[in-house]
Amino acid sequence: MRSRRFEARERRELNRELLVSPHPELGLVAAGGPRDPDPELLVENGVVVRLDGRSAPDFDVIDRFVVAHGLDLGIAAEAMALDDLALGRMLVDVDVPRAELVRLARGLTPAKLARVIGLLDPVELMLALKKLRARRSPANQAHVTNLKESPALLAADAAEAARRGFAEIETTVGVARYAPLNAISLLIGSQTGRPGVMTQCAVEERRNLELAFRGLVSYAETLSVYGTEPVFVDGDDTPWSKAFLGAAYASRGVKVRFTSGTGSEALMGHAQGLSMLYLEARCLAAVRAAGSQGVQNGSISCVALVLSVPGGTRAILGENALAAWLDLEVAAGNDAIASHSEIRKTAKLMGQFLPGTDFVTSGYSVMPRRDNTFGGGNFDADDIDEWLTIQRDWQVDAGIEPVAENEVLRVRETAARAVQAVFVELGLPAVSDAEVEAATVGYDSTEMPDRDRAADVESADDLLARGVSGLDVALALDRRGFGEIAEAIVSMQRQRISADYLQTAAVIDADGLVHSAVNDPNVYSGPGTGYRLEGERWELLQSLPNVVDPAELLGGEAAEEPVVLERGEAGKGTDPAEVVAAVGPAFADGIRRTISDLGHRDVLEAICEGIREVGAVPRLVRVCRTADVAFIAHAGARLSGSGIALGIQSKGTAVIHRADLEPLDNLELFGMSPLYTLASYRAMGQNAAGYALGRRVGPVPTQLDNFARAKLIVRTMLLHARETQAVRPGAAPVELELAVAVGSR
Ligand code: 5AD
Ligand code: CA
Repeated sequence: MRSRRFEARERRELNRELLVSPHPELGLVAAGGPRDPDPELLVENGVVVRLDGRSAPDFDVIDRFVVAHGLDLGIAAEAMALDDLALGRMLVDVDVPRAELVRLARGLTPAKLARVIGLLDPVELMLALKKLRARRSPANQAHVTNLKESPALLAADAAEAARRGFAEIETTVGVARYAPLNAISLLIGSQTGRPGVMTQCAVEERRNLELAFRGLVSYAETLSVYGTEPVFVDGDDTPWSKAFLGAAYASRGVKVRFTSGTGSEALMGHAQGLSMLYLEARCLAAVRAAGSQGVQNGSISCVALVLSVPGGTRAILGENALAAWLDLEVAAGNDAIASHSEIRKTAKLMGQFLPGTDFVTSGYSVMPRRDNTFGGGNFDADDIDEWLTIQRDWQVDAGIEPVAENEVLRVRETAARAVQAVFVELGLPAVSDAEVEAATVGYDSTEMPDRDRAADVESADDLLARGVSGLDVALALDRRGFGEIAEAIVSMQRQRISADYLQTAAVIDADGLVHSAVNDPNVYSGPGTGYRLEGERWELLQSLPNVVDPAELLGGEAAEEPVVLERGEAGKGTDPAEVVAAVGPAFADGIRRTISDLGHRDVLEAICEGIREVGAVPRLVRVCRTADVAFIAHAGARLSGSGIALGIQSKGTAVIHRADLEPLDNLELFGMSPLYTLASYRAMGQNAAGYALGRRVGPVPTQLDNFARAKLIVRTMLLHARETQAVRPGAAPVELELAVAVGSR
């Protein structure tokens, strides 16, 4: 037997994914693996002789590097002597300063770090991350790529990303030879959107360095490290070679961070039976030992593998918190697709989104998913409104700003035009006006005119051979009248010389001022401290372009011809065939239409027709002293000759009532006002008449829209507020008469 409900769930997006039970031998265990070593540090005569279950002769390349350059033996004895739980509690204790925790971390071995982090539950990890983040204010990084490697589109997307507040923008290449062209497009676009935004073009290290030295990019995060020796040396690397490479970037004034993340060792078949979190602790110890200011971690490309095992999401948050504990800048993943399920993806995101990290995503795809050549973005252009709304919901700054459509179009067009000009100046294959236009307004690269790709890559080779630099790009822009963008690009060259942005967790503001852990440190010691989204920034992040001022919706209707005329106080009727239609205080007066946009005159006419059709006599009354539909209807029923009334609020909610019932009881309630048509109101009139004349009455068929509330609750509230404002306490009911419509009828 199969259950149709189980079958329906199997068809959900989530179930395209495979979940596995832990299998430690293959490294398929998130944290606390059975073979993870106990924390251990034995020092004899100032030399480490045992580390986390291994003796010095058995140290692998990572152990040796960490022992040589990472562990601070001046602190180790004190730090390692602390009980795991005591350390865990310090991580979440707002009275233990970050600086003290960072100091202790320098003396802790990878096994100890992993074990302490492993003690925290998700909310504790969020608190730890919030407290341990290096820079006070969170930021975000964007991904900008497209399948056609269109320079105009790259520039336009980079400009939009920068304008929306991303502090860093990363691109890459489908074909390696495109690198200099993509780097230039990103450089121009970023500085068009907002001066000071850093860019990188992730390619093979030699070329990556070359682009950086030439000032075509300003940061790099391509330096991957791994937690076991076989994986580490896979690409002819050692921790020493990585450290040297990191120094090569930094020595030329290029911001650099390493990349690591849970799951990579298992994916590459050499997890050595160790848990993902423990192996990441080894990576982070090595990153720290290499002297890097920061790391891109949080599983990165392996996220879906980590999410296949129990506790995967928690372990990823744990590795982010651990990196922050080690005083590393954290670009916190959320870049690669984590799940097919929007719910699961968002649930995972909250771990970084709510506490804030130095870069909440290490690549938010500014373009639609299919143009993301990093393998598809986890969150992309189509999700921006959701991201902005969730920031507003939580009053949390996750690094993306709302920008009006015309402003986005403006920066996109300017960037595409600037790239067009630079391509002419540098003798590159022309960017056409059609490309500029499509890059400005298009959805994705399918709308971009095709380019001669052979000519592009040839010109890219030539560009490198000619030694074109960031300064050449700035000069080209200046010659073509793009002075401001040129100046911003020169400023980025200047940053490489002052090199303030090599400090931990640096971002650069529009005035060229660097904000890093040095001059803008995160000092969190409980409520009221650290970064709070408030003031101007909160104003900005809550003012989404689609937000409506309720005062506008509340504003009364322009004076129109009267729908009803008031004919003095309403008394009790005597005709047993009489049915009262009792309307609310603002009906056909301050409010003229129902929530489903039916005119009140038409509604009243439909009700009266329905009443007459069955043979009863309609009578109109306004109830002035209440806006509650039950009391409006009940008051009407008490005035009705038959004892039956149909009460109706201005927004269209209706009730059929009888005088002898309790006010909050009723004969029929019509609470789904957004769904009603004139035919519905006519049927209500018929039913009310049926009750009055003692006929058998079947309930009016009603429909259900489960989303009506989510969609319309604000309009409902505002309409009700207006009705309530029209209430006159203690006022007597008023007899109404339908006014003769001017013109028609
Ligand atoms: N560990 C180390 N490096 C990683 N990368 C992605 N995920 C990880 C990880 N978990 C690096 C790889 C990859 C690039 C996108 O980032 O080098 O090619
Ligand atoms: Ca990245």
